[in-house]
Amino acid sequence: LVEPFAPAGAVAVVTGGGSGIGQALCRALVAKGVAHVVVADLDRAAAVATAEALNAARPAVASAHQLDVAEGAEVAALAAHVEATCGPIALWCSNAGVHRGQGIGSNSDWQLSFGVNVLGHVHAAEAVMPLMVGRGAGHFVVTASAAGLLTDYRSATYSATKHAAVAFAEWLSINYGDRGVAVSCVCPEGVRTGMTRPDSVKAGAALSNFMEADEVAQVILEAIAVPKFLILPHPRVADFEKRRSDDRERWLGGMRKALARLEAEKLALQA
Ligand SMILES: NC(=O)c1ccc[n+]([C@@H]2O[C@H](COP(=O)([O-])OP(=O)(O)OC[C@H]3O[C@@H](n4cnc5c(N)ncnc54)[C@H](O)[C@@H]3O)[C@@H](O)[C@H]2O)c1
Repeated sequence: LVEPFAPAGAVAVVTGGGSGIGQALCRALVAKGVAHVVVADLDRAAAVATAEALNAARPAVASAHQLDVAEGAEVAALAAHVEATCGPIALWCSNAGVHRGQGIGSNSDWQLSFGVNVLGHVHAAEAVMPLMVGRGAGHFVVTASAAGLLTDYRSATYSATKHAAVAFAEWLSINYGDRGVAVSCVCPEGVRTGMTRPDSVKAGAALSNFMEADEVAQVILEAIAVPKFLILPHPRVADFEKRRSDDRERWLGGMRKALARLEAEKLALQA
C-alpha cells in the first residue's frame, strides 16, 4: 500500500537539519535530486549555514527555518508555509533530538527531553499526517535511537523519551500504514555528531562502532526507498534487542555489570 520514497522532484523537511544526522540527510537528499529541502533547526545560524552550503551546489534547492519542534504552533506554521510555498511535503524527517540529563535527571532535563524527543514527533505528526493521509502518500521518519530499543544507562531521560519515540512511531505506522503513509523509525547507536563529540573524541579509534552521519543518512535513504519501518544503521542492535526480549532478567544483569564496569573505570580515572 505504501510507495517507496522517490526523491526526484520531492519536497522534504528535516528537523535538526543544521547539524549531524539531520544535516547529512539534507546533503543526501539533495544529492538524490529532491526539488527542495527545508532545513529546520532551533539553531538558526546552523540552519542557514547548512542551506547556504547546499544552495552553493544547487541554487535554491534548500531553505533555512528556525524551528523549535517542542512548540506545536511553530511546527504547524512551518508545515503550512512549506505546503503553500514549495508544494506537498513528501518526506518529513522528524530528527531533532536532545541528550540532556545524566543519571535520573532534573525536572528541567525531563521537561526538555520530553518536549523535544517525544512531543516534537507528536507535533510533526499532527501537522503533516492529515495532509499525507489526504493525499494517500507520504513518508514520515522518526529519528529515535538504539537507546529507545535497549537503554542508555547513563541517562534516564534519554532512555525513557527515546523508548516513547519508538512507541509513537510504531503507533503511527499501525494507524496510518494502510492509508498510504510510510512511517520509519531510525535507531542508531553511536554516530559522530555534535551530540556525541566529547564521547567520540575521547573514544577515538577504539570505539569502532561509531558511524559517520553521512553513512547513517545513506542507510536511511536506502531503507525509505523500500520502505522499511525499523532502520538499524548498526545491525548488531537487532541482536541486542532480541537478547533483551528473549531473557529480560539476563539482559538487565548484563547491563548492571556494564554499568558497574563504567563506574569502576570512572573511579580509576579520578584516583
Ligand atoms: N549521535 C548519536 O550517536 C545518535 C545516536 C542515536 C540517535 N541519535 C539521534 O539523532 C538525532 C540527531 O542528533 P545528532 O546526533 O545529529 O545531534 P546533533 O546535536 O549534531 O544535531 C541535533 C540538531 O537538533 C537541533 N535541535 C535541538 N533541539 C531542537 C529543537 N527543540 N527544535 C529543533 N531543532 C533542535 C540542534 O540545534 C542540532 O542542530 C537526535 O534525535 C538524536 O537523539 C543520535
